[in-house]
Amino acid sequence: MNLIQRQQHLLPQIESGLQFFLDSFDFNHSLPLKHMIRYQMGWEDQGSKGKRIRPFLVLLIASALGGEVEVSMPAALSVEFLHNFTLIHDDIEDQSPLRHNRPTLWKRWGVAQAINAGDALFSIAQLSMLDLQSTCSSSIALKAAGLLNQTCLHLTRGQYLDMSFETEDNVTPQIYLEMIAGKTGALLGLCAVLGGLTAAQDDEKIRILDDFGTALGMAFQIRDDILGIWGNPEKTGKSVSSDLQTKKKTLPILVGLVESQPFQNLWQMDDVDETQIKQMAGLLEECGARKFAQQKAEEYTKQAFDALEILFPSPADKNPHAETLFELCTELLKREI
Ligand code: IPE
Ligand code: IPE
Ligand code: MG
Ligand code: MG
Repeated sequence: MNLIQRQQHLLPQIESGLQFFLDSFDFNHSLPLKHMIRYQMGWEDQGSKGKRIRPFLVLLIASALGGEVEVSMPAALSVEFLHNFTLIHDDIEDQSPLRHNRPTLWKRWGVAQAINAGDALFSIAQLSMLDLQSTCSSSIALKAAGLLNQTCLHLTRGQYLDMSFETEDNVTPQIYLEMIAGKTGALLGLCAVLGGLTAAQDDEKIRILDDFGTALGMAFQIRDDILGIWGNPEKTGKSVSSDLQTKKKTLPILVGLVESQPFQNLWQMDDVDETQIKQMAGLLEECGARKFAQQKAEEYTKQAFDALEILFPSPADKNPHAETLFELCTELLKREI
């Protein structure tokens, strides 16, 4: 099975698992809250759904290591619920008006209700992780729940840095990398670890899986930085002016601030219009910022590949699921959505 066939096979199972788990909770008079959650998950009104990369990764890794999809499923569902919790809060923090080609939760229902819907998803993610007790063992479920919370803490440290950079002039590449390792690398690392944990792998393998997922997450975030400036909004479902308008210190922007004085001049202006945003994107391209960022994403993808090679060293180890993992890394590096 290649990547597309594997996705066609697993994504419907993930989707129905997510819906089924949400339906297991009673909402009584708070049904509109369930509607908000369903809207965020892409099951209400028009709009596109998320890619479900994280649960897919958990299940693919578990399968590549000889595990069963059904056993790992509660962990896979948990990371997708958790991811959507972080998206709701991130859109408030970033003041992003659009996601999945439609208004963000806070734009539609206000900040207070959006925070609360995010909190609900956070709790549901915790409960789904603890549901591993029904497919694995209590000790694995407890370990996974602990890891989930450690990841959340790491993620909030990353988000703290991301927000603080908006008003910080001296952001070094090193601290940028620490920031993305927290805000994105940590959760992708957790996905890989959970795949291994639920497939009963030893600590050494789990450590390598963490390296793999974290490196993949770093590459994923740098690609997101690129799409945040040059992506097609119809494909990403997000605005391309947001990062430049809200003074986000993404990787191409950090490079531009050092390499291009004209970019820096525009960047320092308080309010920029759409024409100036386009000009800024052009200047970044000219000074090599886009190319630099793509090369960095390639470097992290290579690190992810190296970790995979350790896990699946010989051709005999490279079962079809492992082959699909290699394919996924390559696709994520080129992604447009
Ligand atoms: C968006 O993640 C946030 C980042 C970590 C870059 P995704 O691009 O995986 O979001 P969806 O779920 O597919 O929309
Ligand atoms: C990604 O944040 C990380 C989290 C959502 C926690 P970004 O702010 O970089 O991602 P987008 O571009 O809004 O999806
Ligand atoms: Mg954001
Ligand atoms: Mg953000």
